[in-house]
This record gives sequence, C-alpha cells and structure tokens, in this order.
Amino acid sequence: MKTATKRAPFVTVKFAQSLDGRIATATGESKWISGSGARRFVHKLRREHDAILTGIGTVLIDDPQLTVRLVSGRDPLRIIVDSQLRIPLTARVLAEGAASGTLIVTGKSADIARAREIESLGGEVLRLPRSKDNSGIDLARLLEELGRRGIASVLVEGGKGIITSLLKAHAVDRMVAVIAPKIVGQGIAAVGDLGITKLDDAIVFLSVKTRRLGADIVFDGRVK
Ligand SMILES: NC(=O)c1ccc[n+]([C@@H]2O[C@H](COP(=O)([O-])OP(=O)(O)OC[C@H]3O[C@@H](n4cnc5c(N)ncnc54)[C@H](OP(=O)(O)O)[C@@H]3O)[C@@H](O)[C@H]2O)c1
Repeated sequence: MKTATKRAPFVTVKFAQSLDGRIATATGESKWISGSGARRFVHKLRREHDAILTGIGTVLIDDPQLTVRLVSGRDPLRIIVDSQLRIPLTARVLAEGAASGTLIVTGKSADIARAREIESLGGEVLRLPRSKDNSGIDLARLLEELGRRGIASVLVEGGKGIITSLLKAHAVDRMVAVIAPKIVGQGIAAVGDLGITKLDDAIVFLSVKTRRLGADIVFDGRVK
C-alpha cells in the first residue's frame, strides 16, 4: 500500500459489470447494471475517498453527478480527465454550483476560452502533458500532482479508457467490481487491451473479499 511519503494517492478502481464483463451495452447504456443496494454501497465508498476520478467519455454518455447524495457526508473532489475540454458547461459536475468542487484535467493545448468559461463557473482547469504512449493525459503525472495537493485516496469510476490507462501505468492499488447476474453480450468491456499475452503476466489480486449485495456480488481485492 502506498503511503503519504510516496506522495501518489492510493487508487481504487470501481465498476459495475455484467457476468460477462461488460460495463455498458454496445450503445453505451450502463444505467443500471447493478441493483439499488450496490448503488448505495458505491456512495459509501465515495465518502471514504478524497477524490473521484472519471473520463470525459463517461461524462458525455452518463452525465454523472459524482456525489454522495444517497448517504450522509461530504462530497469528494470530482476529477474529470478531458484532454480537449469537450465537457458541456451544462454537465452535472459543473452546473448548479457543482463546478466549485470539480477539477477538469486537460491538455497543454486545450482551448483557453473554454477553460475560462469553466473557471467562471467555479471549476478548476489543470493542464498536464500527454502520456508517453499517447493514450491521453499522463495519469501518473496527475496522481503525483494530486499527492502534492494532499489527496491521499482516489476512487476511479471510469470508463474503459481511464481504467485501462491506469492499469497499464501500474497505478491501481485496489479494485472493487460489482458483478450483476446479467449477460449483456456484445458491449463495452471493463478493461481494454493491456498487451498481456501470457497468463503469467496477468494482473492478480491479494486479500480478496467477496460479499453479496442484493442480487449482486461485490469483489474487493488488492493488486499484488
Ligand atoms: N458500469 C460502470 O461501472 C461504468 C462506469 C463508468 C462508465 N461506464 C461506461 O463506460 C462508457 C464510457 O467509456 P469511455 O472509455 O469512453 O470513458 P472514460 O474512460 O470515462 O473516458 C475516456 C476518455 O477520457 C479521455 N482521456 C484523457 N486522457 C486519457 C487517458 N490517459 N487514458 C484514457 N482516456 C483518457 C479521452 O478523451 P479525450 O481524448 O477527449 O480526452 C478518452 O476518450 C460509457 O458507456 C459509460 O456508461 C460504466
């Protein structure tokens, strides 16, 4: 487990998937794969973290609020990775005062006027370089920056794109997967290509806990 001296926050990835590993249908629909008990559980999980992180893909399709509204407690900082500032000003993480608790992480060349519009709503825009493999914003740099700001824990609620990039960067400490007893067939996988061709190279988990939540099963494990 990372500690404060290493600076980068502890990273938990959470997603809800069907039995066949889909986090959304082929058209992007993901509400709701899991049951209502699991959604309350997720809000409790959010409350335990300093920040929630997702990608612009999820914001454009799901328009999530990323709050703890189903339980009592303080909303964590919301972080959206959006290299071209595609986020609509009407997105629920920006509208109606929400922007003051939202950090938009973008690329060095993203539109200045658009950034000002976000800032005028109260949001913060942070510019970071792209990753070496050009898959998007350098997420390792982002985690370093969050550590510098005193953020000790991040709950990732991506998006296949963000989850895959964090796994590739070996930046994930814990994974919580809510597994619903449903088969979707063709759809969006939780994790994309990691370049793993041998089972010996698969990412494995230690200290795995499982529990039932209504009809769903929660997997909770630490990355080895
Ligand atoms: N079931 C669940 O638990 C769950 C949770 C969340 C989302 N979803 C589903 O997932 C789908 C969205 O998936 P997604 O992959 O499009 O969403 P995503 O991971 O939220 O966002 C991906 C986007 O983030 C931006 N990005 C910037 N830097 C990146 C980096 N280093 N690595 C990866 N992406 C980076 C890219 O857009 P730019 O190039 O424009 O910056 C990229 O297209 C939706 O259908 C949603 O419903 C399901």
